[in-house]
Amino acid sequence: MSGLILVQPSLASAEKIAEYRAEFPAERMQVTCDPDRIPGLDCLETYEHIPDWLRFCESMKGKISWYMTVRESDGKIVGFLCLRHQLEYDDDDPEFCSHIGYSIRPSERGKGYAKEQLRLGLEKAKAAGLKKVRLICRDVNIGSIKTILAIGGVYIDTIHGEESGLNVNRYDIFL
Ligand SMILES: CC(C)(COP(=O)(O)OP(=O)(O)OC[C@H]1O[C@@H](n2cnc3c(N)ncnc32)[C@H](O)[C@@H]1OP(=O)(O)O)[C@@H](O)C(=O)NCCC(=O)NCCS
Repeated sequence: MSGLILVQPSLASAEKIAEYRAEFPAERMQVTCDPDRIPGLDCLETYEHIPDWLRFCESMKGKISWYMTVRESDGKIVGFLCLRHQLEYDDDDPEFCSHIGYSIRPSERGKGYAKEQLRLGLEKAKAAGLKKVRLICRDVNIGSIKTILAIGGVYIDTIHGEESGLNVNRYDIFL
């Protein structure tokens, strides 16, 4: 029993989501080519107010699913995971698309939560009908690489983004 569950974000959690966002300012630009995006909280960067972002999430039902990873013992949001039901709902460039994005809030890292969160996310992907999940991460993001490998990720290759200047590792997980 991990004590973590995935819960769809709702208005009742707006304040907690804002607190989660507030933990991220310094390090965002290290992990994705979009410096403002918090992995797992995709598109929140374009909304100032959480309720507006929640309305957007609702409008994407069936295409993209967002999950808060909640610790059952105290109800704290420890992570966020975003499941794209098709790769085309991610980046414009299909080479750089992934099905799942995720983060663990800085104050809760190093406890194995990312591994458990990804495992739970794969269950959601399977339930959504996916047979194979593509994951990507920067080649310098050791924590994410280890998370993906620990949950069965198979390394495919490393590609270079001309525009971003970043090297990105690609992995597949078969469900
Ligand atoms: C990457 C991230 C999700 C890891 O979260 P976490 O809860 O600390 O990870 P876990 O505790 O589950 O650890 C997973 C593995 O990575 C290792 N690890 C985690 N952070 C690490 C780091 N900074 N350096 C080296 N190894 C690290 C752990 O030791 C563990 O390895 P093990 O299975 O061999 O024991 C978290 O650092 C994060 O949110 N980063 C910013 C967002 C991000 O990078 N998202 C992914 C984008 S592709």
